[in-house]
Amino acid sequence: MDVIIRPTKEEAAHLVARLLAKAVKAKPHTVLGLATGNTMEQVYQQLVKLHREEKLDFSLCRTFNLDEYVGLAPDDPHSYRYFMNSHLFKKVNIDLRNTHLPNGMAADLDAECRAYEYRIQEFGGIDLQLLGIGRAGHIGFNEPLSALRSRTRVKALSPVTIEQNAPLFGGAEKMPRRAITMGVGTILDSRRCILLATGAGKAGIIAKAVEGPITAMISASTLQLHPHCTVVVDDEAAGQLKGADYYRWIFENEPEWEEFR
Ligand code: F6R
Repeated sequence: MDVIIRPTKEEAAHLVARLLAKAVKAKPHTVLGLATGNTMEQVYQQLVKLHREEKLDFSLCRTFNLDEYVGLAPDDPHSYRYFMNSHLFKKVNIDLRNTHLPNGMAADLDAECRAYEYRIQEFGGIDLQLLGIGRAGHIGFNEPLSALRSRTRVKALSPVTIEQNAPLFGGAEKMPRRAITMGVGTILDSRRCILLATGAGKAGIIAKAVEGPITAMISASTLQLHPHCTVVVDDEAAGQLKGADYYRWIFENEPEWEEFR
């Protein structure tokens, strides 16, 4: 695992966007795994900027999002399909037919989950998976106790996650209680993972995920098992990392990061 600490949330998001852009340029047919949420908004803003100003080309990319709420239609402003369309897909030259999210309205949710896993395999697996982290330590909606080898399935949202996302719905009572999410095993199968966390509110959970024991109680901690995972944080989210000086030293000294310094 690499941990990169940038002074501000803007610089952290900018670095993540540049890592994604580099991957897309190197392999135009990249299969991207995407995330939603407040933290990702700045990354997508930066990608749109790179598309407009530097002609970053998404025309051959395929995407698979981590999750979708059960019971929300794609045109519901709270759905993750709506989020992706408005923050990224409709602002770059991606073919919407190449963008995939689980269908939270499917009559048979289990069949939808199996089909989603199958589709990811059909496209050759995920090259680069973008991740945020919830206050409960989730990646995707893999809430505490999610099995380390879990696949795409329906999960009940934890009270911490409901509290985290309720303001977006105008109150907890208006929020769906379940979501379809890629499993921890699905995420760990991706060839590369990049997790972005910003703000002091994420400092405690980031320290547990990066430096604590691997546990099903904090699904982000399982990224310690991933052979190519980069965690990008701003100074605030890095606030409780014991090894911060060492991680900064690696970033300043490893030739791999020279172009990103
Ligand atoms: C959403 C997702 C979640 C979020 C996490 C952080 O697709 O996968 O794991 O990344 O809840 O959300 P924010 O960025 O809103 O704090």
